[in-house]
Amino acid sequence: MPIKILFVGDIIGKPGRQAMSRELHRLVDRHTIDIVIANGENAAGGFGLTVEVAKELFSQGIHLLTGGNHIWDKKEQVSLVLADPRIIRPANYPAGAPGVGSAILKTPGGVKVAVLNLEGRVFMKSIECPFLVADREIKRLKQETPIVFVDFHAEATSEKSALGWYLDGQISALVGTHTHVQTADERILPQGTAFLTDTGMTGSFDSVIGMGKEETIYRFLTQLPSKFEVAKKDIRLNAVVISVDELSGKALSIERINMAC
Ligand SMILES: [Fe+2]
Ligand SMILES: [Fe+2]
Repeated sequence: MPIKILFVGDIIGKPGRQAMSRELHRLVDRHTIDIVIANGENAAGGFGLTVEVAKELFSQGIHLLTGGNHIWDKKEQVSLVLADPRIIRPANYPAGAPGVGSAILKTPGGVKVAVLNLEGRVFMKSIECPFLVADREIKRLKQETPIVFVDFHAEATSEKSALGWYLDGQISALVGTHTHVQTADERILPQGTAFLTDTGMTGSFDSVIGMGKEETIYRFLTQLPSKFEVAKKDIRLNAVVISVDELSGKALSIERINMAC
């Protein structure tokens, strides 16, 4: 029996959360989804995640939230947020950072699904090598289950593509997040790993990657700081549905979702 995973790209503030509340149940029914994972690094006002916002997202039916470079933004409660085993952050931050980088979920049928979150290093912070940390973490997770899903939160297409090829055949899927722009390159690599460079975002598309256009343009024009506000119009939900053979852990299909809400 295949199991089906729905992964939702970066949920941006309240408009993104409202889109999830409206559409998630329908998507789960239509695609007979077993596990729902979403990137939550921008879910609270566009920057970070709070306990309250995470609670709202879990009540909608999300089983696990992944993070990225913005997961640390709500500094006053980041340790509390990351104490929840249903919220993970990139595994390749230095030892001592709050939280963990992976989790093991169970489908309603009792199948274990491992989820690993990693962050890239090109045009981002110089944290530990995502390739070497992937080797270490995947070896450990595969002692529990053959099904491993990776959210690789990275800026550079080349880094995401390279890690996809590097892990082909070892994991069920690697999908990218962080750019907030969905790419149209979904495929199953030759050794059975589903791949998509970037899942995109769930939020306002009348925006610059989810944030207000005017203040972003002002920042580029003046090179001065400006206060970013989450944009509110033209809401879309970006996600991917991946089906995986439960015995081999190989991907059987990958389907991209880009829907108006
Ligand atoms: Fe993001
Ligand atoms: Fe990010």
